[in-house]
Amino acid sequence: MTLLLESTNHLYWHVGRSLGREADTSSTLRSAVQMKTDNTALKKVVIHKAGSYDRLRFETQPLPKMGPDDVLVSVRAIGVNYADVVVRMGLYQSAKDYVGWPITPGFEFAGEVEAVGTAVTGHRVGDRVFGVTRFGGYATHIAVPQTQLFPIPSGMSFEQAAGFPAVFLTAYFALHELAHPRSGDTLLIHSAAGGVGGSLVQLGKAAGCRVVGVVGSSHKVKVAEQMGADVVIDKSVDDLWSSAALHAPDGYDVIADANGVATLKQSYNHLRPAGRLVVYGFHTMMPKKGGRPNWFKLAWDYLRTPRFNPLDMTNENKNVMAFNLSYLFEHNDMLQRAMGDMVGWLKDGRIAPPPTTSYPFEQVAQAHQDIESGQTTGKLVLIP
Ligand SMILES: NC(=O)c1ccc[n+]([C@@H]2O[C@H](COP(=O)([O-])OP(=O)(O)OC[C@H]3O[C@@H](n4cnc5c(N)ncnc54)[C@H](OP(=O)(O)O)[C@@H]3O)[C@@H](O)[C@H]2O)c1
Repeated sequence: MTLLLESTNHLYWHVGRSLGREADTSSTLRSAVQMKTDNTALKKVVIHKAGSYDRLRFETQPLPKMGPDDVLVSVRAIGVNYADVVVRMGLYQSAKDYVGWPITPGFEFAGEVEAVGTAVTGHRVGDRVFGVTRFGGYATHIAVPQTQLFPIPSGMSFEQAAGFPAVFLTAYFALHELAHPRSGDTLLIHSAAGGVGGSLVQLGKAAGCRVVGVVGSSHKVKVAEQMGADVVIDKSVDDLWSSAALHAPDGYDVIADANGVATLKQSYNHLRPAGRLVVYGFHTMMPKKGGRPNWFKLAWDYLRTPRFNPLDMTNENKNVMAFNLSYLFEHNDMLQRAMGDMVGWLKDGRIAPPPTTSYPFEQVAQAHQDIESGQTTGKLVLIP
């Protein structure tokens, strides 16, 4: 069915779905009927207030209202990000700024186009697409502006596509918008078997760099190697910073760090002159089990987080950069450039989708528990 948005802003189903991708509004049956078919409802995860896994409640709601520029997607796979658990705990600032409570977490999804608004030109009913959204992704259906959707490259599954955009866009921003590594540079990538970390390793290799990956558990070494790391430091076995110095005696050109307090100061210390430290997360402040923040640890870690002095940075020729992608959704030019580049690299085999582990939608709490544990590799994906 092709969804038409009438000037009255009422939603009408246009009975033409049986014509599939070739359906054309001029030739399809014009007897629009109000949206009262089997597909009037969606299922989504709704969090009404901050807390542990029991806050992840399923609710049924009417399908979202669509603007003329929107596309309704029937979701087949949803990417889980570490940030989603921070949202659930009530600690994610942009979730407070843009949504508040209740909130449906989720930054990324893949599925099939179910309906398009009247001004949509780039997507048609039945297309396989993946996309990004500023929250709201944990749902069986989602409506987003057409610019936030991209065709799934051939050969890529819904699971792989759903796990691709958030981590790769983060990695792309860190490297290509901020750090600008040159071919031959040496990069140190923390959490190199994880979602963003694995993507940073892949993008670093694709840029011709030498990549030293760091992982926190031995079972992750192979995954980081598969992502392309030239060297992997297993900090559960080896001393992180003496190993890091051994592999880059003159220091690193770029270090990407989402650990926060546990490594930031040493990451800075291990930059070479003109080196760039890109900060994009603080996960070592967070609990690995239980699902609730330890407020004392949070406060203590906040106080212990290093402050970088611009005078020292100038004299030492070292740079510290930081960003949060969820505040950058309005930068459509950047989104299109990044996705255009990366889909091209996917197609020519320079990068690959991250390895995925799937969970039935109903096991969302288990997925949160697992990503919080710090033991997962690649991407976790929910299947609605
Ligand atoms: N700034 C942005 O725009 C942006 C966007 C996306 C993600 N992020 C951040 O990027 C980081 C990675 O996100 P992701 O979704 O790709 O997750 P992930 O890396 O797949 O999983 C988190 C990893 O962090 C490490 N870790 C260290 N201490 C931890 C702790 N106390 N609790 C849990 N994990 C811990 C673990 O790896 P090791 O033990 O191997 O190090 C763990 O596997 C997160 O901090 C997230 O908030 C930032």
